[in-house]
Amino acid sequence: MRKGHFQRVIKEKLKDYQLLVVSNREPYIHNWKEDQIECIRPASGLTIALDPMMRACGGVWVAHGSGTADRETVDNNQKVRVPPEDPRYELKRVWLSKEEEEGFYYGFANEALWPLCHIAYTRPVFKASDWEYYKKVNHLFAEKVLEETGSERPLVFIQDYHLALLPRIIKEKNPDALTVQFWHIPWPNPEAFRICPWKKELLEGLLGNDLLGFHIRYHCNNFIDTVDRELEARPDRERSAIVYKDKITYIRHFPISIDFDAIAESAAKKEVEEEVKRLKIKYRLLGDVIGVGVDRLDYTKGIPEKFRAIDLFLDQNPEYKKRFVYIQLGAPSREHIPSYKQINDEIDEWVEKVNWRHRTEYWSPILFLREHIPFLSMLAFYKMSHFCIVSSLQDGMNLVAKEYIAAKTDSNGVLILSRFTGASRELNEALLINPYAADEFAQTIKEAIEMPPEEGTRRMKKLREIVRERNIYRWADQILTKAIQIS
Ligand code: G6P
Repeated sequence: MRKGHFQRVIKEKLKDYQLLVVSNREPYIHNWKEDQIECIRPASGLTIALDPMMRACGGVWVAHGSGTADRETVDNNQKVRVPPEDPRYELKRVWLSKEEEEGFYYGFANEALWPLCHIAYTRPVFKASDWEYYKKVNHLFAEKVLEETGSERPLVFIQDYHLALLPRIIKEKNPDALTVQFWHIPWPNPEAFRICPWKKELLEGLLGNDLLGFHIRYHCNNFIDTVDRELEARPDRERSAIVYKDKITYIRHFPISIDFDAIAESAAKKEVEEEVKRLKIKYRLLGDVIGVGVDRLDYTKGIPEKFRAIDLFLDQNPEYKKRFVYIQLGAPSREHIPSYKQINDEIDEWVEKVNWRHRTEYWSPILFLREHIPFLSMLAFYKMSHFCIVSSLQDGMNLVAKEYIAAKTDSNGVLILSRFTGASRELNEALLINPYAADEFAQTIKEAIEMPPEEGTRRMKKLREIVRERNIYRWADQILTKAIQIS
């Protein structure tokens, strides 16, 4: 479904509803840079995916105001119209105290729920005080959302694991609201989930939804099995729904995506070609084989596993020395949390080790850029690369894989993709890897580099067809249409 078509049909479908999107992360962050205010877009798959939908639908997006200049840029109702260059919808900011941010965001959301839902062998940390803040902040978000409701029926579209209690609170306060939630991360099996001390409250919160979405069917099944084990609820597997205390919640999978046409169009611009030249000179990218990876610096992304495979690849294929460079772009993330500090140290050690082992006087195999990369430069890195590696240990979807495909307008370039991403279910023309299996991973890097150009093009063309077709507008149309159907 194309953007124009989506815009036409969604207006009609949503005509009796007021669309309110809620997430923790905001799509635009205003920060002070010396004495100027700059607006940045966070490294978040969630906001990248939902911003085009909101631009097309209009409405209000309620999110935590986390920027240093966010308060200076809102009006009296705590709102700012975005995107700044072409305002299409309203962003309403919710303010959290330092203690709330610590307990709710860093604590329960990211030290408990994130590792609980991603099987990456980092233990969740459950603290009663964090849980108290999680509940408090979910109530605060509910209050802010309900302040926005008017005469039309609200369709509250909740995002992700930060707000698991929100649907129930909203339903209790306004039973007429249609509540839909999309869970952007995996849902684990019942055995893994049962260690959470507040599992029942979380599940009850989520069953306040009329519709609950995951990326893949496997996560839907895990969720239904978990509820079946933990609550006196009636799973209706035929209809893929759960009946709990006389209320029905439909569970469906909707694989999220990107605005393919917009990315492809930007990637084809002359500025990107110029940026390619500029970056090649700046970083002295002289090799004829360039690989790229773009990740938030998170322990679920399998970055050390990737460097281990590159190390092995260079050991086994010394002829690629001086010819090969791997560019790792890493956006700093959640650095306040000990497990994130640890993964950052581990990544630094790997870069140092691999570069030290293989370097020559003028050449090193890994270029690691730990910074927030502007979109234009990211497109330029995608364009200049011969292959891209996404090596997540587990990932709900992974939109970098889809962005890479959209940016490859000339249909060359090979995608190496972890089997443990949601994206691997759709993108089967990618070279699929198990990031834990170092030898197989190293062998796949060689295969990607040595793939005959015709085969690379054939695969990339197929991948591009899939992502063009299954874009973010199709996702938004499917989930919102389903919500309205069941209401
Ligand atoms: C994942 C989550 C999002 C989150 C993003 C960035 O994609 O599913 O909810 O926004 O990571 O993480 P951050 O903690 O910076 O919002």
